[in-house]
Amino acid sequence: MSQIYNPAQPSDKVDNALHADYGTSYARIKPEGVDTTHGAILYLENITVSFDGFKALNNLNLDISVGELRCIIGPNGAGKTTMMDVITGKTRPSAGTAFFGQSIDLTKLTEYDIAHAGIGRKFQRPTVFEQHTVFENLELAMKMGKRLTVRTTLFSRLSSEQVDKIDACLRLIRLNGNERRLAGLLSHGQKQWLEIGMLLMQEPQLLLLDEPVAGMSDAETARTAELLNELRGKHSIMVVEHDMGFVAEIAQEGKVTVLHEGAVLAAGKMSEVQADERVIEVYLGR
Ligand SMILES: Nc1ncnc2c1ncn2[C@@H]1O[C@H](COP(=O)(O)OP(=O)(O)OP(=O)(O)O)[C@@H](O)[C@H]1O
Ligand SMILES: [Mg+2]
Repeated sequence: MSQIYNPAQPSDKVDNALHADYGTSYARIKPEGVDTTHGAILYLENITVSFDGFKALNNLNLDISVGELRCIIGPNGAGKTTMMDVITGKTRPSAGTAFFGQSIDLTKLTEYDIAHAGIGRKFQRPTVFEQHTVFENLELAMKMGKRLTVRTTLFSRLSSEQVDKIDACLRLIRLNGNERRLAGLLSHGQKQWLEIGMLLMQEPQLLLLDEPVAGMSDAETARTAELLNELRGKHSIMVVEHDMGFVAEIAQEGKVTVLHEGAVLAAGKMSEVQADERVIEVYLGR
């Protein structure tokens, strides 16, 4: 998003910008176009990623059901972030297939088109527009989801429905009351919530969160768990985390997948993977 962030754009360019920003690929893939008739939002099959012969992912198989909240755990270097890179088109697998729903081949799309197809990704470091208010950040995210740029969105009027949507998001991310604050003045945890809110404004079908509670205080971590529990069932979500207390809070009775050396080592309920000798050996026991 930062590449198209340009608050200095004069207002008389707004109409032109609005026009120009509907590129030829506008809405080529609409989120509602994701075919999930077989119940899965994501299918990864035999994915291999090699870096100079080293296999960061090695025949990885994983799928996620519509509305599922899937936790991914595993030691450093297991390939968790690389898997998200494959899903979002940042890294191309050397072998294997990656499908979003039944019919969208992620290995054939650009990062930009994958984001627009409905996969939202949060990186570890928060990336919010620090010089804008919390409200403006959500407003910009909502409108950029429609492929408008910042320069356009700053000047276009909000409908009452859009204001309601932002208000609901503010409550969800625990930033109601802070909407007029500059994002740059928020705490680390609040910035993380704001970024999650910005992703939600774009109504992703699948949300990928890489270590969302890293660097958070215990209180912020607990609130983030609450937030994710509120999102359960409303979006399909993949969460990578090392904080096992947090994972237990959000996994509940759902499936936890353990990655190790680029492949799935184990999968099951949190209590099952915690009791798995292989998982204890490579990860939890250390
Ligand atoms: N661009 C790259 N070039 C070379 N090696 C890479 C590259 N990206 C990742 N790797 C290697 O691939 C392996 C998997 O890395 P990855 O970042 O996916 O692990 P991770 O499971 O996310 O670990 P962590 O828990 O530490 O974040 C590591 O050994 C890493 O050094
Ligand atoms: Mg990682």
